[in-house]
Amino acid sequence: MRALLLSAVLMPLAASPALADRAAVKRGQKVVDEWCRDCHVREGEKLTPDMAPPYSDLVAIQGRDRAWFEEFLEADHFPMTTFRLFDHEKADVVEWLLDLQKRQK
Ligand code: HEC
Repeated sequence: MRALLLSAVLMPLAASPALADRAAVKRGQKVVDEWCRDCHVREGEKLTPDMAPPYSDLVAIQGRDRAWFEEFLEADHFPMTTFRLFDHEKADVVEWLLDLQKRQK
């Protein structure tokens, strides 16, 4: 009985960070859909020669972790100098990329 009560109290606490993550992933997806699709094919789309590599390839490369993505989004990369994201958008995009990476494993 006591254990039951305890879990009822702790459950919402344990659940909220995961929920926040999901929200960030969702926001990240929106940013990517809006700002990156001009060059990067989206999930499920066919790669054509004039498009940048799909994210499913990019996140599968070794060494692609949170730190790498965060650094990448801070730097200017040719030909990707045409986009500027707010810091919170960058953070959301990182969550989305890491989520995609997890889903592919
Ligand atoms: C103007 C076209 C363009 C836009 C817009 C663009 N990209 Fe790219 N991106 C590229 C190209 C081309 C490459 C491949 C560059 C290379 O291989 O050197 C690339 C590579 C990348 C890579 C991998 C870099 C590496 O070294 O492997 C990531 C991650 C990435 N883009 C994320 C994004 C995100 C996130 C956005 C949207 C916020 C975005 N890109 C918008 C053209 C673009």
